[in-house]
Amino acid sequence: MPLPALINRTPRAKDAELAACQWPEDALHFIPDWVYTSNAVYDLELEKIFRGRTWNFVALEAEIPNTGDFKRSYVGPTPVVVARAEDGSVNVFENRCAHRGAEFCRHGQGNAKEFVCPYHQWSYDLKGNLQGVPFKRGVNRAGGMPKDFRNEDHGLVKLNVATRNGATWSRWTCT
Ligand code: FES
Repeated sequence: MPLPALINRTPRAKDAELAACQWPEDALHFIPDWVYTSNAVYDLELEKIFRGRTWNFVALEAEIPNTGDFKRSYVGPTPVVVARAEDGSVNVFENRCAHRGAEFCRHGQGNAKEFVCPYHQWSYDLKGNLQGVPFKRGVNRAGGMPKDFRNEDHGLVKLNVATRNGATWSRWTCT
């Protein structure tokens, strides 16, 4: 009996490359190359797994036991920071500055009171909230951010977090 067409469970008609990924009927003893090489399959993995409902391991709680402890990690290809805040909570947010997308955290692990992006010094607290923007009101009444700029609208992208038996897991979506 042929194996089910695994990829075709989620077909996207307009995606010709994905539609071409047919599981061979006799593939009980090997895995087709396209499983590893197809960009369409990779994109689908990102969408369904790493950007979907799946919880992704990011750190051990024991690696960040104290306030301010942090560790860099990844959810799929996306760099994230795992940090313990003052209230003891574990927080996960993208390691991409809300200003121009720079990877603001350059150390694999450490302890910090805040995160300051090396490019233009936007600073974030241990929960990924934007704290400070240099020259927010400009210099000599020139430049600066728009009048309606609110720090709370420009924090880092935060992920959902769950800890189980000392392991920390993260994902974007709740549904
Ligand atoms: S890119 Fe981070 S402050 Fe500009």
